[in-house]
Amino acid sequence: MEDYRTHTCGELRLANNGETVTLAGWVQRTRKMGGMTFVDMRDRYGITQIVFEETSNPKLCEQANKLGREYVIQVMGVVSERTSKNKNLPTGDIEIIANGMKVLNIAQTPPFTIEDQSDGGDDLRMKYRYLDLRRTPVRKNLELRHRMTMEVRRYLDSMGFLEIETPMLIGSTPEGARDFVVPSRMNPGQFYALPQSPQTLKQLLMVSGMDRYFQIVKCFRDEDLRADRQPEFTQIDCEMSFVTQENVLQTFEGMAKHLFKEIRGIELKDAFPRMTWADAMKYYGSDKPDTRFDMKFVELKDVFAKAPGFSVFDEAKYIGGICATGQADYTRKQLDQLTDFVKRPQIGAKGLVYARVLDDGCVKSSVDKFYDSEVLNALRVKMNANPGDLILILYGEDAMKTRKQLCELRLEMGSRMGLRDKNKFSLLWVIDFPMFEWSEEEGRLMATHHPFTHPKDEDIPLLDTDPAAVRADAYDMVCNGVEVGGGSIRIHDPELQDKMFRVLGFTEERAQEQFGFLMNAFKYGAPPHGGLAYGLDRWVSLFAGLDSIRDCIAFPKNNSGRDVMLDAPAKLDQKQLDELYLDIKQKGNE
Ligand code: AMO
Repeated sequence: MEDYRTHTCGELRLANNGETVTLAGWVQRTRKMGGMTFVDMRDRYGITQIVFEETSNPKLCEQANKLGREYVIQVMGVVSERTSKNKNLPTGDIEIIANGMKVLNIAQTPPFTIEDQSDGGDDLRMKYRYLDLRRTPVRKNLELRHRMTMEVRRYLDSMGFLEIETPMLIGSTPEGARDFVVPSRMNPGQFYALPQSPQTLKQLLMVSGMDRYFQIVKCFRDEDLRADRQPEFTQIDCEMSFVTQENVLQTFEGMAKHLFKEIRGIELKDAFPRMTWADAMKYYGSDKPDTRFDMKFVELKDVFAKAPGFSVFDEAKYIGGICATGQADYTRKQLDQLTDFVKRPQIGAKGLVYARVLDDGCVKSSVDKFYDSEVLNALRVKMNANPGDLILILYGEDAMKTRKQLCELRLEMGSRMGLRDKNKFSLLWVIDFPMFEWSEEEGRLMATHHPFTHPKDEDIPLLDTDPAAVRADAYDMVCNGVEVGGGSIRIHDPELQDKMFRVLGFTEERAQEQFGFLMNAFKYGAPPHGGLAYGLDRWVSLFAGLDSIRDCIAFPKNNSGRDVMLDAPAKLDQKQLDELYLDIKQKGNE
């Protein structure tokens, strides 16, 4: 049998003029014009125009007229220079004058148009994802993802990292989300947990002396989904032995720079800025600040404290403002919209106070009746605001909560003001995370990162006296307000680890039960070690300028965690349940 094709649909150029070729691919569209039928034929590599001429080959032309969208065809013909060239197509200088055609497969009319701009809604495209993936923009995301994983492998290999696989059917891992679990038929009543990350396993590999490990690995977390969260996602997971925090940051900053250079052609020469977690919260209300634009928070409690009388501000524990440059002409309606925005339940602010700096430098605010011009001028000075600027202020009883609300407002203003350009990249490290955070749900301190994170040496004494104040050797890399990676230096000293478990409220038995394998391994000579995991999906979507990581995943889940194409999750047959010794409670009978 002859080969299906001599060339791809993206390959032929004027230099091939006169060659006899065979192409195979899908029918993108057909059109009839003056005794000729034109077919745009598509494959992964591009589109080539095929011409069927009625005069020279009426039978073949008639066959071509019957082709439907997405038919799979093979076309034989001669490459010919086009009279009217298509500059938008790499193959646009030529066309194929067909002298033979075979329909390899017919196709039903697809449920949406397979064009760059499809008429299909989200749900429909997800249900027929294999058709969606035929569209160039979606396919390009997967091509980008491929190139990025190749570059990641190239970089890490050049740095001496070994790619090592770790198992998927394991026990619970300590990343703080809910586990996805898998029942074991051979061990009735027992369950595996899918890894939330290979955290403990990569640490064991350090005990094994692997020195530098990486893995491009699926992780599973049963948590509420968002645009940048999928229940299964991919990490570029790394661990290194005999390293300081500085060594880890340098290595992975190097990787980020490598990716920017190779993939986006952007040379990032300067070292990435480093911001402490405390400063990130103070100035941006977020541990992943979008630093593409400034608009830092300014604390205003002291400005207004000078003139008590406005009870809302007098009673607030925190008052913070941002200065939106040049936005003083915001209309009443726009300000009302912003007020509604911050009062939405997801944000939860009580209200929004604003102040406009007029051309003459005077300040007109929504709280004019409570403050004289001296206070308002002090506000302007503190905010470093100029004529034409708009000051937006939030207040509240809880500083942290109010800062988070102000963060949402800042991001909203950044978007409105066009300051969040997807082709501009601003990277930084956020460092010195708190070791613990208080969990309302659990009523105890929880590890911010995970329980193996090393506290900062100078804070170790605080473990006994003020654990909430302990900072960790933990770091996140942030790009454009997205946490693209995070990691820490690990504890390798069993005594310190014991202490950590105690602070976290683990009994010795529970610590043994959950992490005994790791603690035992550490008794056999654990090297000092640390590492980091990048979120591959987030990196790809940043580089591709996507709004959701879903678009760079071949077969993603929807917001309810469903795969609508496979219709999963689904019920199990009784037989399967019996084999697994599982009984299902009917909802409502719990
Ligand atoms: P962490 O939990 O910070 O650290 O995860 C590392 C990176 O993975 C990405 N990420 C996600 N991406 C998509 N969907 C999700 N649900 C999701 N959750 C996390 C983020 C994040 O920065 N074991 C540690 C790493 C270490 O300490 O070495 C860990 O998993 O980009």
